[in-house]
Amino acid sequence: MSNKMWGGRFEAGPDAIMEAINVSIDVDRHLYAQDIAASKAHATMLAAQGIIAADDAKNIAQGLDTILSEIEGGTFSFKRALEDIHMNVESRLSELIGAGAGRLHTARSRNDQVATDFRLWVRDTIDLLDASLAAYQRALVDRALEHADTVMPGFTHLQTAQPVTFGHHLLAYVEMASRDRGRFADARRRLNESPLGAAALAGTSFPIDRAATAKALGFDRPMANSLDAVADRDFVLEALSAAAITSVHLSRFAEEIVLWTSPLVGLVKLSDKFTTGSSIMPQKRNPDAAELVRAKTGRIIGALSALLIVMKGLPLTYQKDMQEDKEGAMDAFAALSLAINAMTGMVRDLVADKAQMERAAGEGYATATDLADWLVRTLKMPFREAHHVTGRIVGKASESGVALDQLPLAAMQAIEPRITADALAVLSVKSSVASRTSFGGTAPKNVREQAESWLKRLQNDAISG
Ligand code: ARG
Repeated sequence: MSNKMWGGRFEAGPDAIMEAINVSIDVDRHLYAQDIAASKAHATMLAAQGIIAADDAKNIAQGLDTILSEIEGGTFSFKRALEDIHMNVESRLSELIGAGAGRLHTARSRNDQVATDFRLWVRDTIDLLDASLAAYQRALVDRALEHADTVMPGFTHLQTAQPVTFGHHLLAYVEMASRDRGRFADARRRLNESPLGAAALAGTSFPIDRAATAKALGFDRPMANSLDAVADRDFVLEALSAAAITSVHLSRFAEEIVLWTSPLVGLVKLSDKFTTGSSIMPQKRNPDAAELVRAKTGRIIGALSALLIVMKGLPLTYQKDMQEDKEGAMDAFAALSLAINAMTGMVRDLVADKAQMERAAGEGYATATDLADWLVRTLKMPFREAHHVTGRIVGKASESGVALDQLPLAAMQAIEPRITADALAVLSVKSSVASRTSFGGTAPKNVREQAESWLKRLQNDAISG
């Protein structure tokens, strides 16, 4: 049997393999709420413009409400033979209200329909992700405030570099998440125009009111070019780019948690809630959630690459290739949502081993820069020379197998006679971090200020959002 929606000139039904490659209902069924909302807006507009009768519009709207509750109640039967969500809904509508259902598709095509539905879906998804990112930031800020004074080693090249505060380290991720939210917000602003009414590609001869449907669906305005409206998927690409960058940020933090919780490092512990055991090695506590956050990045970046490649070189306007825009994107956004929530959970769960952090912060002559700075400040030595002198002192300490602040003053004076006992005071990790008060620096005082200001911003967010 040929397709009852578009099969006018067809005599036979599709080959099984044709149906298998063509069908999209398993994926686009997730657009049901957006599809129904868009259809209701369209029908209302058609009646307001005198294109269909008010009675038909009323029946259509009621039928669509019934379908919505059938789908949400789990009683709707999706049919693969009807290909996609649009035809599944319309076919059920005709069962429910009869021939009047056929008027819904006036001045519209599945091309502007799917573009509209997916824009709405991506918009909803961005809003959910934004709320998750805000909760993640909130967790980070709470812990940063708690650890404003906790000293830990800061690394470059994964070599102990200078002591920093744990709170400062956590706030770095708050800043990244803030830019991630900004990228999603930018994407949302650009996507929020309505394709509905572009019809198949050229617009329509019916006197539709695109501004009205745009408004009803919460779009800022209708898209200005019908070809562009049905042909582009840059809105998905932008949201996926934002997702990819977000996931890269999360993966770096996840990797740090894996590293910090390793017994070799031991800066942080996760509880039973965020670790798993080994089936053979009873002593193990594996940071699986962090590892999986790290790994989810792969499929998220993969979805972005896949859609970029699908879109590349496609001539205008709609091509069936574009049906491939949803599966990877939906999977990627679900993975990202899970990753954000898992990180939020771990941030709240983790316990910092303060003693170990402080010990590690002092290892590797991490306060050498502080000594060099002292020579510059107190003896007015040029920094390059101070760097050299400090290097010799570090060499001496390392030779004697002691930390910088354990080296006898006399040994330092043998290298630079003008060094006084004052210099020793800057060599502790506590005084090192306390001295880093430049804007954006790691001093506990700065961290407390930044964390407080973030708390306020996140509070305002919650109110305005
Ligand atoms: N399932 C299709 C998609 O997701 C809907 C649009 C189909 N349009 C068409 N002309 N065949 O892209």
